[in-house]
Amino acid sequence: MTTSELTIREPDDWHLHLRDGALLHAVLPHTTADFARAIVMPNLVPPVVTCSDAQRYLETIVKNIPAGDRFEPLMTLYMTETTDPAEVETGAKSGLIKGVKLYPAGATTNSDSGVRDVEKIYPVLERMSEIGLPLLVHGEVVDAGVDIFDREAVFIDRVLEPLRVRFPELRVVLEHLTTEQAVEYVKSSPGAIGATITTHHLIINRNAILAGGIRPHYYCLPVAKRERHRRALVAAATSGDARFFLGTDSAPHLDSAKIAACGCAGCYTAINALSCVAQVFENEDALEHLEAFVSLSGPAFYGLPANDTRIRLVRSETPVEYPASVPVEGAEVTVFDPGFPLYWTRAD
Ligand code: NCD
Ligand code: ZN
Repeated sequence: MTTSELTIREPDDWHLHLRDGALLHAVLPHTTADFARAIVMPNLVPPVVTCSDAQRYLETIVKNIPAGDRFEPLMTLYMTETTDPAEVETGAKSGLIKGVKLYPAGATTNSDSGVRDVEKIYPVLERMSEIGLPLLVHGEVVDAGVDIFDREAVFIDRVLEPLRVRFPELRVVLEHLTTEQAVEYVKSSPGAIGATITTHHLIINRNAILAGGIRPHYYCLPVAKRERHRRALVAAATSGDARFFLGTDSAPHLDSAKIAACGCAGCYTAINALSCVAQVFENEDALEHLEAFVSLSGPAFYGLPANDTRIRLVRSETPVEYPASVPVEGAEVTVFDPGFPLYWTRAD
């Protein structure tokens, strides 16, 4: 008999782009409908670099939570080469800051203020190791000499492993894994390492972007890799291994910014992420591990309790309907199309 209903702890999203202004207002309800908390990425323009920036951004997000929804934004700071260890410690101790995000400068959308020389941030990493504050890592080198499909694997060897040898106590989340090398690294590496896996990287490989025409809505960073790598991500996510948890990396951009000669990276998945992930788990016959991936392993890594609230996920007979795009002040944000029907939705 196929399962048609599941009750699980309320899910969280451990890597989310909410933006600000009209875009924030348009997209936030999709996250609050399905998730209780989210780690909010700090790559605004300008980036969230101080505790007062984070406090202000938190208040803006809270003002946009739809009436009747309960949602807790978990704030992060954007690491720059001049980030002050004392500022980070104050933010962590007050409970405002749940992690600091490391973007190698130039690696992705709004990462120009990121880090060029990792040695410059050693004092901050030292302090974060002492206080147990996670470092959230965009794991790609930006070296023009490294092929874009190899940038994650090269980052692990050249940057991440030396950094973890130097700071063995540092809690690290390797964000949005895209390769079997990253999965193997997380599984084989001692110490406090966790990893997020996105909705879209569980579903697409690089053919989705490039075969039969160029499809900008599937372009995100790190870029999707070969099918073999997608299979490794699915195996890790559905295994129940607590080091792997959901971070959707839902990253809305207006269509005008995606469909362009130089289009932005990012897939908008907040609206159907939970349905997509449940479908992937069902297809793998692994629904018994869904709760670990979406609701239990993330909070455990961050040292937070799982949500007390429980939700019902229901499998319908007919495919779930969701809009193909979301309107934002007369423009549109295209929603991620998984390419297959989805049957699971949150019922309460
Ligand atoms: C993100 C964005 O648009 O902010 N884009 C993406 O492709 N994931 C940035 C990021 O997380 O790399
Ligand atoms: Zn991201």
